[in-house]
Amino acid sequence: MTKESQIYPVVWDGDKVVLIDQTKLPNQYEVVEISRSADMAEAIQTMIVRGAPAIGVAAAYGMYLGAREIKTSEREEFLSKLEKVAQTLRNTRPTAVNLFWAIARMVKTAYENIGTVEEITAILLETAKQIQLEDLETCQKIGDNGLEVLPTSPTKLTILTHCNTGALATAGYGTALGVIRSAWREERLIRVYADETRPRLQGAKLTAWECVQDGIPVTVITDSMAAHCMQQGMIDAVIVGADRIAANGDTANKIGTYALAVVAKYHNVPFFVAAPLSTVDFELANGSKIPIEERHPSEIYQIGNTVLSPTGVEFYNPAFDVTPGELISAIITERGAVKPSELMGYCESREIEK
Ligand code: MRU
Repeated sequence: MTKESQIYPVVWDGDKVVLIDQTKLPNQYEVVEISRSADMAEAIQTMIVRGAPAIGVAAAYGMYLGAREIKTSEREEFLSKLEKVAQTLRNTRPTAVNLFWAIARMVKTAYENIGTVEEITAILLETAKQIQLEDLETCQKIGDNGLEVLPTSPTKLTILTHCNTGALATAGYGTALGVIRSAWREERLIRVYADETRPRLQGAKLTAWECVQDGIPVTVITDSMAAHCMQQGMIDAVIVGADRIAANGDTANKIGTYALAVVAKYHNVPFFVAAPLSTVDFELANGSKIPIEERHPSEIYQIGNTVLSPTGVEFYNPAFDVTPGELISAIITERGAVKPSELMGYCESREIEK
């Protein structure tokens, strides 16, 4: 039995969406109420809501909010305006495929429904709720499937993770942090090492906060300390999430993931990716064409009001990197764990929709 985490970053509240403001954690727990599609797009872009599955769920609700703002009873006009809503939401963040996946599912639902505009709009709300529910269930399955592949020796593990892949990054429970939650529940975990995850510090702020909420022992390290910890034999496994997985298993995830995978390989530490199948982009044969979001340089040179670097310096701020599939021990999905090189065949043999 999976114990749910009680953290839900996206909540439908009768007539609006309530988001946990992830830019304020851990110092302030604040929520933001979203009633308009444009505000949802802004919340995704500014990372009030973030994490691949969570932005998929948020965008699905954004599609519904946009649909209910459209003032027409003409089906064709409605669908064409809905496409504009979809495009605004697609333009928010380029890397996480769950965003595009959820929007595509909402658009398809609208096109396939032959009812009135009012009926289509109502179906869109139900579809958004369904996407959210499915993601929660998916994460719980990922968590438990992870237990099948985690090392059995030592019996209690120390696991390193990167960024935030927990309840905050999904509909609830989490992917990589979901596996960690399941391991903790089954008494197979001693401690989590959380990379702080420069520059936005999702590890130091959000993963640490979630672990504290659930009583999971956590040690925060700076990203540059991970290699040392592995060299010292302190880490039994690394588990990370994913923003987009190509058909060959190459995986885009938060910047710094690739370096971790290289170091893990060197030290024979198993390196797992935990992600829903909605994160797999079967259109891409390998990771070379995954679009990498570049964010504002102030994320590097500024902390709060303090500017860290002198003027006259250039900055480069890619938010994600791509880890080659050959560095990944297994990809843990809701249907089980699979070697990256076998991902395509695995999905075909299980008739998983591409
Ligand atoms: O920029 P973010 O915070 O949205 O990046 C999040 C990540 O990279 C996560 O590891 C990924 O989305 C998986 S979340 C389950």
